[in-house]
Amino acid sequence: MLIYKKAKDFISYLHKNRSLSKSIGFVPTMGALHAGHTSLIKKAKLENDISICSIFINPSQFNQKTDFEKYPITTDKDIEILCSVNCDVLYLPSVEDIYPNGWESNSKIDIGYLATKWEGKFRPGHFDGVVQIVNLFLELIQPNKLYLGQKDFQQCAVIKKLINIQKYPIVVDICETIREADGLAMSSRNARLNSADRQVALCLYNTLCFIKNNFQVKSNETLVEEAKTFFIGNNHVKLEYICIVDRDSLEELSSTKENAVALVVAWIGEVRLIDNMLLN
Ligand code: PAF
Repeated sequence: MLIYKKAKDFISYLHKNRSLSKSIGFVPTMGALHAGHTSLIKKAKLENDISICSIFINPSQFNQKTDFEKYPITTDKDIEILCSVNCDVLYLPSVEDIYPNGWESNSKIDIGYLATKWEGKFRPGHFDGVVQIVNLFLELIQPNKLYLGQKDFQQCAVIKKLINIQKYPIVVDICETIREADGLAMSSRNARLNSADRQVALCLYNTLCFIKNNFQVKSNETLVEEAKTFFIGNNHVKLEYICIVDRDSLEELSSTKENAVALVVAWIGEVRLIDNMLLN
């Protein structure tokens, strides 16, 4: 696997391969790779001439300094994992390379309401940072296909909107969430759960299954109210939000059953976990 740390070297590699009309599949990550990431890389590898993965813990998308500071860094292990799935290229830039003048100086792209609800409300500025870095990578790499995990449902919607606004000729492939055997969605943040909290964390998946299993027999409002009870009675759990929304607009669905997805976010101890499930 080729590893590029400096944009200059990476750009000449990209130029060379673009002139040979090689197709590029791109998987952006913040490292701490797990089976969710490798499933994306395997797909990128299968469907393109070149698979590129980036590892960059983007400081501009963390609205809490502690979350940024505690974000796991496992670069050596990540490189091993990428080699094991035959990823072709790793882009591993430093913060200084990406933001030589600081990240506040970059101009913002306005995504509109998709970026301000749900995650946007609870993590102000988060999507500004995601859009900033993803746009930078897409301009640089110009991939044919971008692979994203469905686990970050709203992030997928925001990035699709970005690509639409910028008119990039990029196909976005939203890949299904990879789960542990008991249902917990794989996440780099799971590594921060102690063994008791790891068990407690299952309440996110169990709630989503409850909503899905009862979706056709109960009203959306009743389901959301009943789902909230899954998070009561344990002082290690704090529900941030749970909702049933339209998959495209992310507007809450009061009665409609079409095109629905349930979103859930909860704190388990000091770890913020996010999950979702398509309901039909
Ligand atoms: O989902 C993530 O890991 C990050 O938000 C992304 C898309 C790599 C941008 O930093």
